[in-house]
Amino acid sequence: MASERILMKQGAEAKLYKFSFYGKPCIVKERFKKTYRHPTLDASLTSQRMKSEVRAMLRSRMCGIFTPTVYFVDMVNNSIYMEEVHDSQTVRDYIMNIQKEIPDINLAMTVLEPLGKKIGEILGVMHKNNIIHGDLTSSNMLLKGQPSSFNIVMIDFGLSHFENMPEDKGVDLYVLERALLSTHPNTEKVFQVILDAYCVTNKDGAKEVLNKLEEVRMRGRKRTMVG
Ligand SMILES: Nc1ncnc2c1ncn2[C@@H]1O[C@H](COP(=O)(O)OP(=O)(O)OP(=O)(O)O)[C@@H](O)[C@H]1O
Ligand SMILES: [Mg+2]
Repeated sequence: MASERILMKQGAEAKLYKFSFYGKPCIVKERFKKTYRHPTLDASLTSQRMKSEVRAMLRSRMCGIFTPTVYFVDMVNNSIYMEEVHDSQTVRDYIMNIQKEIPDINLAMTVLEPLGKKIGEILGVMHKNNIIHGDLTSSNMLLKGQPSSFNIVMIDFGLSHFENMPEDKGVDLYVLERALLSTHPNTEKVFQVILDAYCVTNKDGAKEVLNKLEEVRMRGRKRTMVG
């Protein structure tokens, strides 16, 4: 394992390195200490998030959702060693490029519709299996392969949990809606495609979840009005 780690990204909670794990290209996600938190609380939160992340990656895989393979978990150095997803870009970068190339949203929808459908199907399967992601954004989805036959790889499960309450699922979708619309203007139609596909794969639970989503939206609006 004696190869060099190359810093790839510094997030809010973790540093991501490129590394070679016994010859396999890998990503090391190392959560660093937060000095503004009490050390005991910080250690406990870090360990909780690492466990949640690894657990949800495995559970999602068991449901047929692509997530990076976990190679090694180092609880002493707060590091997860995982497969590097090759030839991938974040859904965020993909949508941004499409919107730059095709400014007309109706035209762009021809490309964004299959993407939204795939995302909705994945979220439907995750929720049907009671996996709540906790931080659904377009940066936490990797798009792999050609646009004609792409796959989505879900990442960044540190805030995930297992819960069968429609409320938690509704909030999960709300987080995505807010993230999507604030990162990518005029993507209301894309979110609707996501919801439609979600209803197909999570047929039995979708109605209650969508009711909760509407409730959470209303709470959000009220908060905005009150200031
Ligand atoms: N297994 C992987 N293969 C390829 N790229 C990855 C992988 N894991 C993470 N990345 C890249 O690193 C970025 C950050 O990863 P991740 O979301 O897990 O960390 P984070 O600390 O939550 O970062 P952020 O604060 O940016 O969300 C991803 O958006 C993606 O571009
Ligand atoms: Mg992330």
